[in-house]
Amino acid sequence: MRGTRITSTLAAFAMLATLLTACTTGSAAVKIALLLPESKTARYEAFDRPFFEKRIHELGDYEVLYSNADQDAAKQQSQAEAALASGVRVLVLDPVDSSAAASIVAAANAQGVPVIAYDRIVNGGQLAYYVSFDNHNIGVLQGGALVDKLDSEGVSGGILMVNGSPTDGNAGEFKSGAHSEVDGSDYPVLAEFDSPDWSPDKAQDWVAGQITQFEGRIVGIYAANDGTAGGAIAALKAANVSPLPVVTGQDAELAGIQRIVSGDQYMTIYKAMKQQATLAAEIAVKLANGEPVTGDLQVNGAPATLLPAVVVTLDNIMDTVVKDGIYTVAEICTPEYAAACAAAGIK
Ligand code: GAL
Repeated sequence: MRGTRITSTLAAFAMLATLLTACTTGSAAVKIALLLPESKTARYEAFDRPFFEKRIHELGDYEVLYSNADQDAAKQQSQAEAALASGVRVLVLDPVDSSAAASIVAAANAQGVPVIAYDRIVNGGQLAYYVSFDNHNIGVLQGGALVDKLDSEGVSGGILMVNGSPTDGNAGEFKSGAHSEVDGSDYPVLAEFDSPDWSPDKAQDWVAGQITQFEGRIVGIYAANDGTAGGAIAALKAANVSPLPVVTGQDAELAGIQRIVSGDQYMTIYKAMKQQATLAAEIAVKLANGEPVTGDLQVNGAPATLLPAVVVTLDNIMDTVVKDGIYTVAEICTPEYAAACAAAGIK
């Protein structure tokens, strides 16, 4: 995938749009749209949106038009159309549905408005930039951590796979990465589920059914993110499963970190979300001003940057999310978790 550094041709269109808008609206603040996909996963409202808005406002007098689609692709389409109609200079789009969102990119392209694909790629249209992670590798990290942990425990039995939303291209990458580690291991996949909309509730319902079917045989649960991990763990607790299987996650949500502290969840993935949102803001401002943008590599014909992601377990909470100021010890170690925090040296 690594390619030459390329310059966005859409920059020229953005420049034209800048001039036209300046002629018609005078000195009103330049508008940049941020379209995020859902709110059941904590990262969007807790990190992506505030980090993005903070950086945009540091860079000048820009107005952020923010929308959250609440898992609804049609709603996201309308939000994008409303943003385009209000004269935004750039769309920063994290699509609910990676394929359906091609029509959003097409509409933006038709108006000369550059689109940054944020976290999830869009399958269609000309993107001006893509900022994400190596999502297949995130699945490899999750699946590898799960298998290694089961090996170290010396248990025998099988794995449930609770994947992400079937409309999210990243979810397919996480799944294939995880399979590359799990398939051929000593732990067969007993059953597998694509959680609609990444819904923790639907993950919980599905896991509850599997507990009945595979009683005593589930030693690990691959959960693609912390939301679905929370659903899986709630199902295990409701069925009084003990000991709990090894459960994975992703996003380093506060609730996920607290479950790691209490021992209910084994690991999560901590992604450089601050860097992701900050870089997207910087690229958006460049595009809004008709400046050229370059990436480290090229994805789907667009310059792209893929940021780092790391595994977090009980051993490195202090060295990762606490060190980076994502959470304070006080936020993690509420009274419910105080004893477990003390035992783990989180203080
Ligand atoms: C993915 C994203 C994850 C997680 C998930 C649920 O596309 O990469 O970090 O947030 O969506 O929305």
